[in-house]
Amino acid sequence: MTIKPVTEAGSVPGTRPEGIQGEREAAAHVQEMFGRIAPRYDLLNHLLSLDIDKIWRRRVARRFTAILHNPSARVLDLCCGTGDLALAFRREAPVGAEIVGSDFVPEMLSRARTKAAACGAGVTFVEADALALPFGDGSFDLVSCSFGFRNLANYERGLLEILRVLKPGGVAAILEFAEPPGKIFGGLYRFYFRRVLPRLGGLISGNGSAYTYLPASVSKFPSPDALRALFERTGYLEARFERWTGGIVTLHCGRTGF
Ligand SMILES: C[S@@+](CC[C@H](N)C(=O)[O-])C[C@H]1O[C@@H](n2cnc3c(N)ncnc32)[C@H](O)[C@@H]1O
Repeated sequence: MTIKPVTEAGSVPGTRPEGIQGEREAAAHVQEMFGRIAPRYDLLNHLLSLDIDKIWRRRVARRFTAILHNPSARVLDLCCGTGDLALAFRREAPVGAEIVGSDFVPEMLSRARTKAAACGAGVTFVEADALALPFGDGSFDLVSCSFGFRNLANYERGLLEILRVLKPGGVAAILEFAEPPGKIFGGLYRFYFRRVLPRLGGLISGNGSAYTYLPASVSKFPSPDALRALFERTGYLEARFERWTGGIVTLHCGRTGF
């Protein structure tokens, strides 16, 4: 499966699974796909990343301790899936900021709620489309999104919606896969990501297309420089990114003005 970049008038393209043209159809496809892989999502995440995904989320949480430890702060984890980043935030600050996770796939959210209940973590999970959030303007001090942003049907609208719900001086943090630079490590990684991972993922999840979608969507996702430029164009200040783990993932940050 390949993802075609689509440019719509006045907007930056978002994900477009093969054969799908419009935003609405792309979102419906993504929603249906995550609904199907939800039962095996955690197992595959940890297996295919050799548990490094847990380190990445912990690292994001530690990066924002100043916000998380503030009991009056509000934090939103967008596209929260089964809740791992929201729960990492809670672990970093057992009593501190209010933490909300949102996603548009009920099957993912029900797993997130079960996990939160099992460890007594105070996190609220809300069903919501990241492109039309049910929150007022200026509601959150931090809005995060790990491995979800790439799946949005419109990246520009995604950033604008985050900007809308952030308080003045609030921070957006997006963790996404990237294609690592470099011939040797990059080449090895691409072989794993494009050849090995789709087979293993398909075998274990029973959904081959979801795990060919993953490398295809990463290869069509804006480069770190292009995403930083989009942060700037949509009105973020101090837009920057850092590459982690040899460039396999990139943390993008930006903040709103006061
Ligand atoms: C790859 S998973 C990431 C889940 C989680 N953040 C993590 O780190 O494991 C992507 C998630 O984004 C969600 N998602 C994609 N598009 C969305 C949208 N427009 N609104 C809300 N959730 C969305 C999917 O339902 C899925 O749970």
